[in-house]
Parts: sequence; C-alpha cells; structure tokens
Amino acid sequence: MDHFDYRNGVLHAEDVPLPEIAATVGTPVYVYSAATFRRHYQLFDEALAGMDHLICYAMKANGNLAVLKLMNDLGAGVDVVSGGEYAKARAAGVPGERIVFSGVGKTRDEMRAALEGGIRQFNVESEPELLALGEVAVAMGLRAPMALRVNPDVDARTHAKIATGKSENKFGIPISRAREVYARAAALPGIEVVGVDVHIGSQLTDLAPFEAAFEKLADLTRALRADGHVISRLDLGGGLGIPYDQGNSMPPQPHDYGEVVRRTVGDLGCEIEIEPGRLIAGNAGILLSRVIWLKHGEGRDFLIVDAAMNDLVRPAMYEAYHDIVPVVQPAPGAARAPVDVVGPVCETGDTFVRGCEMPVLGSDDLIAFRSAGAYGAVMASEYNMRPLVPEVMVSGDQFAVIRARPSFDEMINRDKVPEWL
Ligand code: LLP
Repeated sequence: MDHFDYRNGVLHAEDVPLPEIAATVGTPVYVYSAATFRRHYQLFDEALAGMDHLICYAMKANGNLAVLKLMNDLGAGVDVVSGGEYAKARAAGVPGERIVFSGVGKTRDEMRAALEGGIRQFNVESEPELLALGEVAVAMGLRAPMALRVNPDVDARTHAKIATGKSENKFGIPISRAREVYARAAALPGIEVVGVDVHIGSQLTDLAPFEAAFEKLADLTRALRADGHVISRLDLGGGLGIPYDQGNSMPPQPHDYGEVVRRTVGDLGCEIEIEPGRLIAGNAGILLSRVIWLKHGEGRDFLIVDAAMNDLVRPAMYEAYHDIVPVVQPAPGAARAPVDVVGPVCETGDTFVRGCEMPVLGSDDLIAFRSAGAYGAVMASEYNMRPLVPEVMVSGDQFAVIRARPSFDEMINRDKVPEWL
C-alpha cells in the first residue's frame, strides 16, 4: 500500500533513492511519499462511493503544510483539535466549510476564531462546552453548527492510551444522555444542530467495535429524528489501523470499513464524515536514520542510531513496533543477528526494539523506520537539545525539504535570558 520499495537493492521513496536524501539533507529525517498519501485518500473515497461523504483528514497525524496542501487539493476536509491546527489548516488553503473542530477542551477564544474564519461544524464533547459555544455564537450574532460527540461505551480493543470510546474515557457525552443534551442544544439560540459524532479510538485492527458503535449511532439518529431534530450528518471519527509489521498482520482495509458504514448507517440518508489520520499518513512516511555504532554489550548487541525517542516517540510511549529495514538490501543469505536498536538519548526508554533479528549493520549504514508518517514528526521534540527532525516530501523523481532542520544557533536564540538575571 505504499511507495517505499527496493530497486536494484536500494530502498527508494517513489523514484528517489533514500541515500540521495540522506546525503543532501542529513539524518535523521522523515521522508514522505505524495503518491502514497493520495492513494490512501482515494481508498477511503472509493470505499464510501455511492454515499454522500466528506473525508476530514485528522491533521494531528501529520500536519505539515505541504501535506495539508496535498490533501486540500484532493478535496479533503480536515479534522482539527486546536486553534493552532485550525489556523494552519486555513493557512494551507482549506476552506472553513471543510473543517470540523474536535477536542474535549476548546476554549472560547478558539471557538470565536473558528466562527470568525468559517467552520463546518464543532464536535461538542460536554455540556459546559455546549453552553459556552452557544454564548460565543450569540455574542457574534451567529449560530454555531454542532454535532454532539457521543461516547457509545464500546471497547475499541486497542492500546489503552489511544482508546476513547469507553465510559471511563474523558471523551464525549454518554450515549444514554444524548437525547436530553440534544433537547438542551435545540433550545439554545446560538446552536444549530447538524449531526452526531463518534470516535472510539485509534489503531483499531478489528471492525467489530466500529460496527457496534455505528449501530448505536444509527439507533440514536432515529430517536433524535423522532424527537424532532434535523440530523443530516454523521461523523464517524477515525481510527482504522495500519500494518506496522509488513506482511505479518493485515488489518481490515478501507473497503471493508466502507461496507460496515454502508450496513450500519447507509440507509439514514445522512452525509457521512470520517476523520482518518493514521491510515492516510502512517505508511506514507519513513524515518531515515544512520547507524552511529554497533556496540557489543554483555550478552546483547546494541545498534546505536542517530534517530531517538525525541524524533519518534511511539515505541517509548505506546510500546509501539515499527519495522526497521536496512536501506541497502543485504545479499541473500547475508548474516543476521539479534540487536537492540537504540537512540543516543540518555534514557533506557530510548529503545526502538529489543532483540530484533536484523542483517548485521555497522557505522554509517542507513536504516529506515517504516510506517512513521503518522504521529511521528508531529510528536517530535528537541529533548537533549537535539534539533527538531526535518521532513522531506517526495513526488516521482523530485524531493523537497518541507521542514528544515533548525541550526543550534536558532535553537539557542529561542531562549531569552532576562536582563536582571
Ligand atoms: N478524530 C479524533 C476525534 C481523534 O481523536 C483522532 C485521533 C482521529 C480522528 C484520528 O484517528 P486515526 O485515524 O489516526 O486513528 N499518538 C497516538 C495516536 C493518537 C490518536 C488520537 N486521536 C499514536 O501514535 O498511536
């Protein structure tokens, strides 16, 4: 499903050999494939064909301006979760009527900015938020289009830190209380009820939780319509998982997901909105890194590479696994040995994988962490005074730096020492 392949024994991003990018931009660096982004968007678009729909790319997965432009050119909408994301989506040229605003803690300032700039809908997650949104809109002489995010109490069967649809999670309004809250919303002059929203979690590798949640949403929609509300949109959230171990696992495809959507909510005549992030961006990116040393420890060997937990935090944070492959394909039958792949940061948590059977590599060899296009660069930091990892976009045989690596001077000069100190 991606465009990172070996050609003549060298890993390429589309038509560009990765060693060329490493030589020009340095490492570590994220490398994205424009064709892969487009393909993933199209898979969802085809999966929902025949139903009125809008794919609102969850930019939290990868919010680079170039990625947003690419998605916007395809006609995608965007799911934003902060005033900053809203501003960036607008800066990328996304029209307000294609932006949905999610998140449990929107401030009044963020609501105002989105109402001023134009917004498709707010996905409201609590009663205090609903009341505040109503007040802000009235003060501006507007009505805020709103869907209530309901919590369907469904187990997404994913990592605990990224499950959102159980009653113990902070997200949404319990579905059992939804009718009462919609009645309240309908009475507010600043609120225009447009739909219902749900998002149960991320990296789901099984369709059953989606099916359970969407069925509950369909029942709720019928009940709300019987109560007299106009429900014309259903926002089904994101969450479809991707294979992180090439070839070993095969999560359901967008096509299968589309069938679940059709089966559960397809007959309601609503416009379907979905908010995929990971499936669009994940396998559209790799993190390119260089081996610093191979260190022989007692009973185990460490491959110390120049990427670290500050560049790709997912393994440290969620025990996530990313396939790590050599950029130069080893000869058939070449020696392999187990190694721990680690970064230079001064924490044991800065470990990408333990005891991984890999071709024997040494100083200066290039490796690629696969499936790193989503929740990679966006979660990077400058911990240990390591420059924020740069990003490169490839399309065909062209590539461009879409975020440059800051210099030490730029990093140092961001800090200010007060005169009186
Ligand atoms: N919509 C809402 C309201 C969300 O909270 C999320 C993700 C999405 C859509 C997109 O979900 P996706 O299609 O990407 O699964 N940093 C974590 C993932 C956090 C996901 C948060 N919400 C990771 O690296 O696994």
